[in-house]
Amino acid sequence: MSATLDPSTRLLTEAAHAKINLYLHVTGKRADGYHLLDSLVVFAGAGDRLRYEPGPEPLHLELAGRFGATLGADAAGPDNLVMKAAAALRAASAPTAHIQGGRLVLEKELPVASGIGGGSADAAAALRLLSRAWQANVPEETLLQIAEKLGADVPVCMASQAARMEGIGEHLSAAPMLPACGMVLVNCGQAVSTPDVFRKRDGAFRERAVLPAGWSDAQSMVADLVKLDNSLEVPACMVCPPVRTVLTSLADQPECLLARMSGSGATCFALFPSSLAAQNAAGALAAAQPSWWVWGGGLV
Ligand code: C5P
Repeated sequence: MSATLDPSTRLLTEAAHAKINLYLHVTGKRADGYHLLDSLVVFAGAGDRLRYEPGPEPLHLELAGRFGATLGADAAGPDNLVMKAAAALRAASAPTAHIQGGRLVLEKELPVASGIGGGSADAAAALRLLSRAWQANVPEETLLQIAEKLGADVPVCMASQAARMEGIGEHLSAAPMLPACGMVLVNCGQAVSTPDVFRKRDGAFRERAVLPAGWSDAQSMVADLVKLDNSLEVPACMVCPPVRTVLTSLADQPECLLARMSGSGATCFALFPSSLAAQNAAGALAAAQPSWWVWGGGLV
C-alpha cells in the first residue's frame, strides 16, 4: 500500500517545514537578555520529516537524511529538541493517554543551525505527532507553553502557517494575505550560533513594521518588504562572511525580486514571481556552487 494512502502511516509521520523570516526587526531587549522581535514568518515546502514506530522499548531517536549523518551520535540523545519535546509532552499528558516507547526517525533534510528553524520545526513536529499517537489530550494552550519553553521559534512552528511573530517569538497573530510566489533557499554550509549573532549586533532597535491586510501579487509584497530588513543580517555577515556572497548570487538570478537572510543565518532566501522561476534559479545556483545546499519551490 502506498504510504500516502495509508492512514496509519500518515498518523505516524509529520513534516517539519523550514521557517523563513521575510523580515526580522529586533525591537527591544528583555531583562533576561532575550530580544524582542517583530517578524513575518512563512513556511517553505522544504523540510525535515519525523517518523514514529511505536514499540515496547524505551523511546529513542535515530537521525537520517542528508544532514542526519553529519551530526554526531550525541545529537540523537536526550538534549535533542525532539526528545525534549517528547519528555515534556509525556509529563503533561492526560492520565487517559496511551504513552508508548519505540523508535523516532528524524530525516534531517534542512541544514542545522542555519536560521530556518530546523530544530524548532522538528520539536513542533514531535509535539504534534506524539500528541496524536499517544492520544495525549493536552490542551492547546499547554502545548504552546511547552513549545515556548523548548525555544523561541517553536510556537510559530506548531501551526506551520504564515504568521506575524512578536515578543521573543511567543506572540503570534495572523499574517497578511500572501500572494503566490516562489522561493529559493541557499546555505553555504557554515553553521552559525544564534547567540553569537545577537552579541555582534550594534545595539540599535528597529520599529514595529506597519503591514497591510494583504498583497495581491509578489511584486507589491516585495515593494513593502524592501522598506524592512533583517536586523541580524549585518552581524551574521561578520560571523559568517560567505552570507554576503550567497546574497549577491541570489540577487543576480533572473526574475529575483528580493534576496535576504532568514533568522540569525546563515541560510538566505530569495523571492520569485513563481515556483517555476524559483526552481530554475535553484538549478542554476546548485550547478554553479555544488558545495551549497540549494532548494527551490513554493511556500506551504
Ligand atoms: O530560544 P532559542 O533557543 O531559539 O534561542 C537561542 C538563543 O538566541 C538564546 O539563548 C538567545 O541568546 C538568542 N535569542 C534572543 N532573542 C530571541 C531568540 C533567541 O536573544 N528572541
